[in-house]
Order: sequence, then structure tokens, then C-alpha cells
Amino acid sequence: ENEIMNGLPLFKKKVLITAGPTYEAIDPVRFIGNHSSGKMGFELAKTAASLGAEVYLISGPSHEVVTTSAIKRIDVVSAEEMNNAVHTYYKDMDIAILSAAVADYKPKNISDQKIKKSSDSMTIELVKTHDILASLGKEKKHQFLVGFALETNNEIENAKLKLQKKNLDLIVLNSLQDKGAGFKTETNKVTLIDKLNNVTEFSLKSKEEVAADIFNEIAKTIHA
Ligand code: CTP
Ligand code: CA
Repeated sequence: ENEIMNGLPLFKKKVLITAGPTYEAIDPVRFIGNHSSGKMGFELAKTAASLGAEVYLISGPSHEVVTTSAIKRIDVVSAEEMNNAVHTYYKDMDIAILSAAVADYKPKNISDQKIKKSSDSMTIELVKTHDILASLGKEKKHQFLVGFALETNNEIENAKLKLQKKNLDLIVLNSLQDKGAGFKTETNKVTLIDKLNNVTEFSLKSKEEVAADIFNEIAKTIHA
């Protein structure tokens, strides 16, 4: 087995991947969430495993399944749980790819009883969650750190700013310009930007192929 594994580009590399949405509780039966399926993150995990890596997949609620023992799946629900799990593993990782659609805000208070309907309007106060990716950028030592960006305007400029601000090695810009790209689809259209500001635009393709493009770019850089 090892003789075969030896030749693989990510042999003995440890790769952390976040995937899916987070759910932020309002009360025991309600939450704030988003439409992320987790598909992109699970495809990244599968690709990393097929390239010989030991994969730690930290996922919010998702119907996706893992079928190989090379992927250790850690299920979380909230941004806070995802943050804790990520920081548990990060130190030992060679590569971290944060593809999760983490909630930016969560309810300030979680009601311990189901909230009853009363007046005609209601307000839920929200507070910021921890920016997991930014905290990894601050802590970064040897790790190759990859983030995603979802933008609707000034896409390239905003993605470059995120790359710099969060101290990333690579950012994957998800283009929403095309129908068939994004959250609930089987396909994605991405642009990769590295920390030298090289911009590479890819065509609309399956998330499996997008995962291959991303690892191709990572392998080029870490083996260069
Ligand atoms: N991210 C994270 N923790 C958060 C929010 C975002 O780790 N609390 C990560 C995402 O997984 C993604 C990257 O940060 O890899 C960018 O997410 P995005 O929503 O595009 O950007 P934000 O920095 O949250 O800024 P904004 O939503 O205002 O554009
Ligand atoms: Ca965000």
C-alpha cells in the first residue's frame, strides 16, 4: 500500500477542510441558517484523500456522506462549535481550506423556551461570530491557508482584499454571475487568486472538477 501511496502528491500531508452551513440557534426549535449544501467541501475532502492526504473534514449540517477512512469527519452545528473544532486540529495541519458558509452573526441570546408569538413585529438582536479564517491567518506558521469568497460586485478587488486582510495563500472566488454556480447547484465557476495577485479564471464545471483545479494550484505552489 505504501509504495503506491508514496507517489501521490499529498502523501503524508494533513489537510483540514470546513464545509456546509452553520446553524445559529434562536430558541430550542429555530435557527438562522443558509442554503449551503456542503457539496464543495466534501468534494475537496474526497479529492485530497485520493491524492494521499489524511483529511479532517469539519462540517456543519449537511446531507453529504463520506465513504473513505482517509477522511475523518467532525460534525458541528454552530459557528462557535466550528471555530473550536478548527482550532483543535489546525496546529498539526499542512493545508487548511475553509469552504464553509459560516454565519457572520448569531442571536445575542438563545431563549431556553420556544418563543411564543405575541406582538405584530419582533426583533432579534444579533452579534458577530468569530471569523474563523481570519484567526487562522493570524496564527499561521507553516500552513498553506486557503479561503473562499462570495461576492456580488467588484468581485476580483474584494477577493484580493480578503486574501490580504486574512493573510491567505490562495483565495477561491465563487462567481455568482453565472446561473448554475453556487450554493444549491452541482457546478461552480471559480477564479483563483494567489498571494502574488495572479488571477486565474476557470470555466463553469462540476464541483469535483473544481476541487481538482484547486488542489492542482495548491500542489504547484507547495512543491515549487
Ligand atoms: N469565514 C470564516 N468564519 C466566519 C466567516 C467567514 O471562516 N465567521 C470564511 C469562509 O469560510 C470563507 C471566507 O471566510 O472561506 C470568506 O467568507 P465570506 O462570507 O465571503 O466573507 P466575509 O469575510 O464573511 O465577509 P462578507 O460576508 O462581509 O463579504
Ligand atoms: Ca460572510
